[in-house]
Amino acid sequence: MRVGLLTGGGDVPGLNAAIRAVVKRGVGQHGHHIIGFRNGWKGVVDGDIVPLTRSHIRNVLPIGGTLLGTARFHPHSAEDGMDAVLATVENEHVDALICIGGDGTLHAASKIAEAGVPIVAIPKTIDNDVWGTDASIGFDTAVTIATDAVDRIHTTAESHNRVMLVEVMGRHAGWIAAASGIAGGAEIVLAPEQPFDIDKIVRFLKHRHRAHASFSIIVVAEGAMPAEGTSMQYEMQLGQFGQIVAGGISERLKQEIEQRTGFDTRVTVLGHIQRGGTPTPTDRILASRFGVAAIDAVTRGETGVMTALRAGEVELVPLADIAGKVKHVPQALLDVAAALA
Ligand code: F6P
Repeated sequence: MRVGLLTGGGDVPGLNAAIRAVVKRGVGQHGHHIIGFRNGWKGVVDGDIVPLTRSHIRNVLPIGGTLLGTARFHPHSAEDGMDAVLATVENEHVDALICIGGDGTLHAASKIAEAGVPIVAIPKTIDNDVWGTDASIGFDTAVTIATDAVDRIHTTAESHNRVMLVEVMGRHAGWIAAASGIAGGAEIVLAPEQPFDIDKIVRFLKHRHRAHASFSIIVVAEGAMPAEGTSMQYEMQLGQFGQIVAGGISERLKQEIEQRTGFDTRVTVLGHIQRGGTPTPTDRILASRFGVAAIDAVTRGETGVMTALRAGEVELVPLADIAGKVKHVPQALLDVAAALA
């Protein structure tokens, strides 16, 4: 078989581990030819291919980023994009495609699958918001990095008696904020799932600093918003692909908190540090399991599906079921964060 492989959307640590697993299992055990497409769906549209043999994946397991390159590009939104994808699949004699991506890439995958291309998808996103799977590649590494940052912020917050805002990624879901806030012992976690009331935050900070503490740490997801009808005005700024302009919500919160409490307040935006560098063992293992499951599914002819982790087991879920849905942080996890304020 000739199997095409691509990585799309924002990169995450662990992509190379997944590529390696697909190639090792696909070439070594199934005898397939694996061809990589450069820069996500853009490479499929342009017919930009690179053969993937065992020599290409040597030593890549611990390396962050993606050896195939990636891009935010959706063929169904580009002029003649879908036709170009189908033409490349035919010209390159691709029997099936494995695409590793987050919401945008998976949405494109489901459209291309509908058009008749056999596809198996692998979920990756540091935001952990792909529906249908307990975990996506990259999330564990991002939480590890963010938790380390919160730990470091702790000592400087305490030394200077400051309120420290740590902004983490999470456009639609606050998984990184909730996880790193709990793991790092933040006083307040703000997530898109639970619009906040600035009056309550200010009351909490004043009370805490009067009663027993001289510092506070707030972990805020970039997609967090004030609740409607509350006293803080904020308009989210979006980039070309709907990405949030970093620092917006935390700088706005800093202004409000300083103005209303008089407490010295600082902002740290973790940004792309959360997506860089070496993947954790948990992400390497997840990526390896998903990679093997994906190429095995292709080999069996089981396509139109996504690999998913469910209660510790790797399963296959229909692509059509997951596209367009967001996996939100459950209230119970946000309640744990609030209980430990
Ligand atoms: O989708 C993952 C994500 O990391 C979001 O949390 C973030 O808003 C976005 O990517 C940033 O995208 P870019 O790297 O294109 O600026």
